[in-house]
Amino acid sequence: MTLQQRRQLISAASEIQQRAHAPYSGFKVGAALLSTAGQQFVGCNVENASYSLTACAEQVAITSAIAAGQKQFAALAIASAGGVTPCGGCRQVLAEFCTDLPIFLVDTNQEDALVELRLADLLPHRFGKTIQ
Ligand code: THU
Repeated sequence: MTLQQRRQLISAASEIQQRAHAPYSGFKVGAALLSTAGQQFVGCNVENASYSLTACAEQVAITSAIAAGQKQFAALAIASAGGVTPCGGCRQVLAEFCTDLPIFLVDTNQEDALVELRLADLLPHRFGKTIQ
């Protein structure tokens, strides 16, 4: 991916974070996913009064990509206060489509604070159709 794509992905995650519906936790998350075809898909967390129905930002982004016919991904950016890592459920959902994926964690509390890690490191020995 180009430096410009990387910058765009990071700023898209921070922008979409503002659209989160998080009245219960107050914790807003934004995610931006870049497909290998160069298309960007964004998502934010959407909470519900029935708490367990909450959708995570990463899952909203990947669901929208799949619905658009994109199944191969180049990178993911996640923006939150503190720059948290994706939850276990999101790791598994991402692993359905990506053996590995660069993930940029954006801490919106600190300008330009960025951590880069990889899905394969976050979810070793993932559950899948074949034993890996
Ligand atoms: N959340 C995400 O959107 N992604 C994650 O990977 C972790 C958690 C959301 C769900 C909930 O709305 C809020 O953060 C607090 O858990």
